[in-house]
Amino acid sequence: MFCTLSTFLVSIGFYALASYLYEQLRTPYKLIKIRYFSDNRPTLKERYGDWAAVTGASDGIGKEYAKELARQKINVVLIARSEEKLQAVAKEIAEIGTGTQTKIVIADFTKGSQVYEHIEKETADIPISILVNNVGSGTPSPILKWTQEATQNIIDTNVVAVSQLSRLFFQRMKASKIKGAIVNVSSGTEMQPLPYGAYYAASKAYTRSLTLALCHEAKPFGIHVQLLSPNFVVTKINSYSRQIMKGGLFIPSASTYAKSAVDQLRDGVDETPGYFWHHIQNAVGTAFTWRVRTLAAYKIFSKISDKPKKN
Ligand SMILES: NC(=O)c1ccc[n+]([C@@H]2O[C@H](COP(=O)([O-])OP(=O)(O)OC[C@H]3O[C@@H](n4cnc5c(N)ncnc54)[C@H](OP(=O)(O)O)[C@@H]3O)[C@@H](O)[C@H]2O)c1
Repeated sequence: MFCTLSTFLVSIGFYALASYLYEQLRTPYKLIKIRYFSDNRPTLKERYGDWAAVTGASDGIGKEYAKELARQKINVVLIARSEEKLQAVAKEIAEIGTGTQTKIVIADFTKGSQVYEHIEKETADIPISILVNNVGSGTPSPILKWTQEATQNIIDTNVVAVSQLSRLFFQRMKASKIKGAIVNVSSGTEMQPLPYGAYYAASKAYTRSLTLALCHEAKPFGIHVQLLSPNFVVTKINSYSRQIMKGGLFIPSASTYAKSAVDQLRDGVDETPGYFWHHIQNAVGTAFTWRVRTLAAYKIFSKISDKPKKN
């Protein structure tokens, strides 16, 4: 009897360990295989095509991602709300000197559904084969302090944009038989609820679910879908914390992060934090259950968010 029970417990232990290792190692395994053991490592352009569109391309990860695409000879449609900032990004891309073209599309995702018709019209003649749904916003703050407008804005920017643009470009790529890629930028916060960053983490859990489902629906048409889930990166979204903005081994600059993430798109991984030290962070973090992680997040974010006083 004792022997049967211990065999049962050991089997559960092995199963849990094997599941954990599979989840942690499937992306690094694929990257190592293609980078060190494959005779053929296609360029980004060979794998997907030569036009990309990046939302939220005026700053942070989106801006550096667009520049890295240009370094890899991909033409880029830059989409965001500030024309002035986008012009500056287009100038930086021209200075890279790879001769890539850029097109600017002004779009504010908080201004209603006509923004999608506008993007569709502005890009109708461009064979976009890589869509990077990067736009996102959010600052840690208790739900008690959110207004109706701010709540609507974060949902429009973080949930509606990725939903509408994934659908639109999936349909377009399928119709024109483009075997391209859709990259949806989520966040490490997708893995557990985040007290004091509740709407942000919930929007990223949505992005994760949508993207991993889309991955299966798009695969039969040769369209690659990638869930890109960074942990902290030094960008203005984190300007509420001086500590994060200092950067460090686990908090790369946006350009270091984007270079690594674009290389991982080139190598065709489908689910990744996009950066070596974020893989390590996740391997440690996910050894704990989501309830423990939520509690830890609660402790950390209750200190850094603009918390209301208790009555
Ligand atoms: N940085 C991190 O630590 C981190 C971690 C995990 C996930 N992420 C995700 O990475 C993505 C990029 O974030 P980031 O860190 O690069 O942030 P960021 O530096 O604040 O850049 C966000 C970009 O989105 C644009 N944008 C924001 N709201 C918009 C709107 N309503 N309409 C059109 N464009 C809008 C911004 O334009 P403006 O220049 O006009 O503001 C900017 O180009 C987001 O999805 C974010 O959730 C970031």
